[in-house]
Formats: sequence, structure tokens, C-alpha cells
Amino acid sequence: MAKKITKICCIGAGYVGGPTMAVIAQKCPDITVTVVDLNQARIDAWNDPDVENIPIYEPGLSDVVGEARGRNLFFSTDVDKAIDEAEVIFISVNTPTKTYGSGKGMAADLKYIELCARQIARVAKTDKIVVEKSTLPVRTAEAVKNILQNTGNGVNYQILSNPEFLAEGTAVEDLHAPDRVLIGGDTTPEGQEALQSLVDVYARWVPRERILTTNLWSSELSKLTANAFLAQRVSSINALSELCERTGADVSEVARSIGTDSRIGPKFLKSSVGFGGSCFQKDILNLVYIARSYGLKEVADYWEQVIIMNDHQKRRFANNIVKTLYNTVSGKKIAFLGWAFKKDTNDTRESAAIYVADDLLHEQAGIAVYDPKVPAEQVYSDLDYLETRNSEKNKQYVTVFEDPYEACKDAHAIAVLTEWDQFKDYDWKRIYDGMKKPAFIFDGRHLLNEAALTEIGFKVYTIGKEA
Ligand code: NAD
Ligand code: UGA
Repeated sequence: MAKKITKICCIGAGYVGGPTMAVIAQKCPDITVTVVDLNQARIDAWNDPDVENIPIYEPGLSDVVGEARGRNLFFSTDVDKAIDEAEVIFISVNTPTKTYGSGKGMAADLKYIELCARQIARVAKTDKIVVEKSTLPVRTAEAVKNILQNTGNGVNYQILSNPEFLAEGTAVEDLHAPDRVLIGGDTTPEGQEALQSLVDVYARWVPRERILTTNLWSSELSKLTANAFLAQRVSSINALSELCERTGADVSEVARSIGTDSRIGPKFLKSSVGFGGSCFQKDILNLVYIARSYGLKEVADYWEQVIIMNDHQKRRFANNIVKTLYNTVSGKKIAFLGWAFKKDTNDTRESAAIYVADDLLHEQAGIAVYDPKVPAEQVYSDLDYLETRNSEKNKQYVTVFEDPYEACKDAHAIAVLTEWDQFKDYDWKRIYDGMKKPAFIFDGRHLLNEAALTEIGFKVYTIGKEA
């Protein structure tokens, strides 16, 4: 009989830890769930009396947090206390690409994971199930186990891998009704018992046939593989978008035509200005690095091409704007509709908009940004982070607006970088009237009604369609 879990702690109150734990707490009112983080401001925001001010924007999330917070869901910076009291500890900290030393620019930086393992080893006095929720290189559990098992304090640890598959913008939906939950564990009886305890938590709301169990390494590697396959689909359709533009084929018609083949399926075939988000690029780079470290050159080169194609797509979009605007954007105002890496999130990590803006800034364009959920400080910090130019220059050439009509006023061109639904319903005649002529639109998201815009007078470029 697997042990019934009553106390869970999660280290890391970010885009994964916050929503995931909020849903566990919502669905399991008898389990106390404490989410801890070193970042005081983030924890304060999770505890804000006005639940609309929680630090992550996700449709439906404030309702879930509102229901469980203070009942059995708690947010705190007291990491030691939460570790001490929990039976199950999720590690949901960031695992960014390394920016220094060996593996720089490719490998996952596991320093935050190691710090968590060491902290657990230092604090724990009772047996713990430690769950890898972060996305990790295959065989990380071995390192975590080594750190935990060499403390000599007599505590028994079981390590599980339970990668998260939620997508931002639909996190709550994905957590309420996941395609699957994946849990990997040791094949020993103790490992299987721990695994069963976690299965029983998810089984409170996820049908058992959707809870897959595997060994540790399959679970760790499946997460990297899933992201690699998803990103590969985007790069594949984006590769064809360029060919469509030259041949008169329309990439959305091609996508529909192939997507009706049940073996291919219709999802994730939307050609775009390039995928962004904190994970696709980092996880593929990590996969490439792992393959190289095993000497698997062809495997590494194969997956690396997904990133090469994505970089090309972002650059190609920026180049096309310059080329179309008579080979110069110097001193011209280009309005960006959208800065987030996809709609319905305030997350901008690795957003294509950042790189397109950087390329246009190289060409001395003036950029006017409007995004319904991204504040000005975030736009500037994303550009500053690239270290392409100093922050004064970024502030000089980039202006962030709170009103889309103001952002588009007197612009030579509009670039649609994020597929926010509201963009479709704007008064496009009013926008056209306020712009310099000819008024160009570069739709990087297949969002707008090209025929209607052309009728108004816009010159429209839609990715994957002959202009
Ligand atoms: P995030 O940066 O939003 O959150 C991580 C949090 O961990 C931060 O708030 C940070 O302060 C905290 N942290 C780091 N070290 C800590 C420590 N030692 N003690 C306490 N807190 C610490 O990251 P995220 O987007 O939630 O991603 C977390 C992991 O989940 C990553 O491995 C990522 O690849 C994976 N993942 C992310 C998504 C997504 O949609 N963002 C989806 C699936 C998986
Ligand atoms: C992705 C995966 O979908 C999740 O399963 C995974 O858990 C997560 O990464 C992770 O590990 O972080 P996310 O990055 O939040 O989720 O969002 P996606 O919907 O996958 O979109 C990623 C990027 O691809 C976005 O920039 C999106 O605009 C782009 N995209 C997606 C396309 O350009 N075309 C598509 O058809 C689909």
C-alpha cells in the first residue's frame, strides 16, 4: 500500500511551480501544499490580497489560487521549514542554458538544482520523496541521488521524475485535463512505492490510464524529446513557408492539407515568425549537447537544425521588413503589435519579437511596442539583456505604448509579432488613416484578415504567402 501524501512542498514559484501546485491544492483540499522561493517579491505577489495581482498571467489561474490560497495552498520564502515539514518535495527551479564555462550556450545550468538538493540534504530529518519537476538532462536523477544519499543522516530518499507538459497561456486547462502525466521512478520496490504515492495524488482528477509510469531515465528523456518534436514541427512548417512565398503556395493551405492526414495531425503546424518561450531552444540545445557528449554527431546535428531554422525565420522576417521598405528603415517608425512569445501570457522569454526588434534597431529603426500584458520595463530589460547596445540607446529608439492606436500612429509599417485575439478586432481603417503611406503590415502570425486590410489600402505581407 503506497503511503498517502498529506504535505507537499515545491521549491520554485515560477511559471511551472505556481500553477502546478495551485491545481494540486485545488484538487486535493486535504493535502497541504507550500510553494517556496528565494525571490521575496515573487512570493509577495503570490500572496497579494488582490488575487488578480499574482505574478503570472494565465487564464483561469487567479480563480484557482483564490479558491485554495490560505486553505491548503501557501506561498513562502521559508524554504527550510517547508522542506522539513513535507513528505514530497517538488523541485521546480529554473534550468537555463549555461552562460559560462564548459557547455556554455548549450548545456543546461544545473546549479539551482544542485543547490536545492544540497539544501534538502542539509535540512531533512525524515524520509522524503524528491520529485524532479524541472526539465533536466537525462541522468540528472543520478546526481541528485548522489548528493542526497551521502549526507549520512539516516534519511531515506526516493527520487522521481515528473516532468511538466503544460503550455503557457493554457496552463490551467492543461493541468486540469492533461493528455498525460508522466512519472518515472526507480524499479526497486521502494521506488515503485514512492511512484505509486504520486500516482495517487494525480489520480484524484486525472484518469488513471493517462498517468504513465516509466523508469527514471525514460521520463527525463521523454520531456526533452517531446519539446524537440514540437519545436521541430514549427521549424518544419516554417521552412516550407519560405518555399511557399516563392512558389505561390499558401502555407496555411499546405498545413491544412497535410494536417488532415491522421498520422500527421492538425496541431502545431502554424507557420510563424519563429518559436519563442523559455524552453524549446534551451531544451533542444541541451539535447544537442547531450548527444555530442556521447559522441553522437549525426544525432546532434539533426536536432540542431531545428534551432538554425528558427533563427533563420526570425532574421528573414526582419530582413523582409527592411527590404520591403525600400531597403531602409533608418528613422522610420515600425509599430510592433505584441511582444510576448505567444498570446495569453505575459512571458517574453526568447520571444521572436526581441530578436526582430534587435535586427531592426541595427538598421536604426524607431520601434513602437504595444502588448496588452507586457509592461515597458520588461521590453527594455529584454533588449538590454542582449547587450547589443546600451540601455540609453534602447530607450532612445524603442517606445512602449499603452494604446495600440497611439503605437501605430505615423508608423511606416506594423509588424504583428504575437497572435493576441484583440488585434483582429481593431478599427483598422482608423489605424490606416493615421499611418504614413504606403502603409505596410507584416503579419508574422497569420492573424489578420488580409483581404479586408488590402481593401482598406494596406500593403500586406503574411508569412508563408506570396506578397
Ligand atoms: P521560473 O524562472 O519562472 O521559476 C523558477 C523559480 O525558481 C524562480 O522564481 C527562482 O527564484 C526559483 N529558484 C531558483 N533557485 C531556487 C532555490 N535554490 N530555492 C528557491 N527558489 C529557487 O521557471 P519556470 O518557467 O517555472 O521553469 C521551471 C522549470 O520547469 C524549468 O526547468 C523549465 O524548463 C521547466 N518547464 C517550464 C515550462 C514553462 O512553461 N515555463 C513548462 C514545462 C517545464
Ligand atoms: C511548450 C510545450 O508546448 C509544452 O508542452 C512544454 O511543457 C513547454 O514548452 C515547456 O517545456 O516549457 P510553451 O513554450 O509554453 O509550451 O508554448 P507553445 O504553445 O508550445 O509555443 C511555443 C512557441 O511556438 C510559441 O512562440 C508559439 O507561438 C510557437 N508556435 C507554436 C508556432 O509558431 N506555431 C505553432 O503551430 C505552435
